[in-house]
Amino acid sequence: MSNLNIETVTSVRHWNDTLFSFTTSRDPGFRFKNGYFTMIGLEQDNGRPLLRAYSIASANYEEELEFFSIKVPDGPLTSKLQNIQPGDQVYVGRKPTGTLVADHLLPGRNLYLLSTGTGLAPFISIIKDPEIYEQFDRVILTHGVRYKSELAYQQLIQDELPNNEYFGDIIRDKLYYYPTVTREPFRNEGRLTDLMVSGKLFEDLGVPAPNKEDDRFMLCGSPAMLKDTSAILDDWGFNETRAGHLGEYVIERAFVEK
Ligand code: A2P
Repeated sequence: MSNLNIETVTSVRHWNDTLFSFTTSRDPGFRFKNGYFTMIGLEQDNGRPLLRAYSIASANYEEELEFFSIKVPDGPLTSKLQNIQPGDQVYVGRKPTGTLVADHLLPGRNLYLLSTGTGLAPFISIIKDPEIYEQFDRVILTHGVRYKSELAYQQLIQDELPNNEYFGDIIRDKLYYYPTVTREPFRNEGRLTDLMVSGKLFEDLGVPAPNKEDDRFMLCGSPAMLKDTSAILDDWGFNETRAGHLGEYVIERAFVEK
């Protein structure tokens, strides 16, 4: 089992009936870039691990690892993973990787982090990264969900990070947060894709409509969200980074059934 570490669960947080997050110990040799994912899993009855790809929600300078998960009642992994308790053991793959890193983008002024559902996770890691605020003037985090109760990490985004003793000032200045809800009333409503096409997203944020010189995008969400969002960006003339050829946007395709 040399490609897996065994870590101990240190805390579990249930956000609602469908979402939870948990923290684990971190092997001192486990290194990753903010925005990366790794394999997470549990031992099955037959003794073999059942693994799925999970974005790392903690930052690479933090002592513990954090993961954000959906609860699928009959999901092979999450039906069990949702019941974990502090002290339980989980597998953590030793080879984190991913495309959601600023080095994979051409330099720019504004970084859009476009997420739906648990696609928020890698961006929690990224917004904790002081370097990202050195590279961009604005870091614009959007989170599209069905119901308000799915707007996880709001307190971290809106209170804790802006009051961080080391980089709170720069975060207050540069981090923009745009949550939007599709299936019940909220201050921002509708799919991110529709809000982009109508221009309402940019009007509400008080920023200019995106252009190729200034704006960069990272996308993380369901396959349908990735497809529709990248179609909009393509239509606007933005290019996805491909085969080492830097573009204006990157996509995380690690999403699978959990
Ligand atoms: P909707 O309620 O209209 O389906 P999910 O949990 O299914 O991944 O959805 C999370 C959020 O993403 C929901 O608000 C959902 O809106 C939205 N969504 C679903 N499909 C797309 C898509 N193709 N493009 C943009 N947003 C989407």
